[in-house]
Amino acid sequence: MDALAPRAPAALALDRLMARGAAFFGSRYAIMGGAMSWVSERNLVAALSNAGAFGVIACGAMEPPRLAEEIVATQALTDRPFGVNLITMHPRLDQLVDACLAARVGHIVFAGGIPPTAAIRKAKEGGAKVVCFAPALALAKKLVRSGADALVIEGSEAGGHIGPVSLNVLAQEILPVMAKEVPVFVAGGIGRGEAILSYLEMGAAGAQLGTRFVCAEESIAHPKFKQAFLRGAARDAMPTLQLDERFPVIPVRALQNEGTKRFMEHQAKVLARFQAGEVGKEEAQLEIEHFWAGALRRAVIDGDVEQGSLMAGQSVGMVTAVQPAAAIIAELIGQAEAALAARRPDAAG
Ligand SMILES: Cc1cc2nc3c(=O)[nH]c(=O)nc-3n(C[C@H](O)[C@H](O)[C@H](O)COP(=O)(O)O)c2cc1C
Repeated sequence: MDALAPRAPAALALDRLMARGAAFFGSRYAIMGGAMSWVSERNLVAALSNAGAFGVIACGAMEPPRLAEEIVATQALTDRPFGVNLITMHPRLDQLVDACLAARVGHIVFAGGIPPTAAIRKAKEGGAKVVCFAPALALAKKLVRSGADALVIEGSEAGGHIGPVSLNVLAQEILPVMAKEVPVFVAGGIGRGEAILSYLEMGAAGAQLGTRFVCAEESIAHPKFKQAFLRGAARDAMPTLQLDERFPVIPVRALQNEGTKRFMEHQAKVLARFQAGEVGKEEAQLEIEHFWAGALRRAVIDGDVEQGSLMAGQSVGMVTAVQPAAAIIAELIGQAEAALAARRPDAAG
């Protein structure tokens, strides 16, 4: 963008609303590319950061040397800041933090549970800012006390592993209290700029989107995976169903396919064997959990969209084309600015 060109009042107003989040990340816009295992690797992450957003590498199950390699490869594609998302139950969480710090990654996002206080401290002492997911107000307060520099509140509309509460409710419960203390980013079901604008006006520092970026041109997701997103409607992106309360299933929101149908049959078969005394409770639980092992990779990388896991948020219906990451960001920003510009001039100024 030409720094000397006059900016429209709506663009300036949006800049002001995004200022805190953008300053926190060192990015042009307060938009995070939500880390998506297998999808958020060097190409998409660098493309998002180069487009003015804040890309985040999904570490997933990567081992520390593999993560170090991915960080270096991303740094070769962008000189803008980006972050790394670490899953807290990874057995080598400590070494993964070390890998981030050694490569001077500025922001570490801890996901998949409450991170150990020691991991937060280590990241901060090493010079990184720490972002944590807060699933409820009490935990948001606890995470900030433990040192979180910013929070993400992710509603059940999101793709992938989800909690039970919608962003609509989380935003009302958490933003009025926590936004005074730390920047809070909203996630889940966001597909358009007007929605980002409304959450910014409620006090959010910015937004994290995942689903909307899967079909970026730069995303390495298999063409069949992208095709499933282009075809998918909000109602197709459903949480996994649990057949029996004794055997908990972690809810994952994904597009329904052959795999999701087979998962119900699989649960029923394991349950029948448990009831017949053929397998113990622990073994049965493991058999149920094992069903989805490797399933996201099969869909994203191999293009097995029938049996693999098509993790997607309800915003999937708003994914209508394969576009460069920069075009998606420009569209989101344009929608927010147009909404501001459509107001009475005094309201936008
Ligand atoms: C395919 C896919 C994989 C994901 N993998 C991860 C992950 O590894 N770690 C994580 O913290 N969140 C993961 N997420 C959640 C995203 O980071 C983000 O919070 C979510 O997509 C936001 O909601 P939206 O999909 O409605 O935009 C994943 C989401 C999708 C769609």
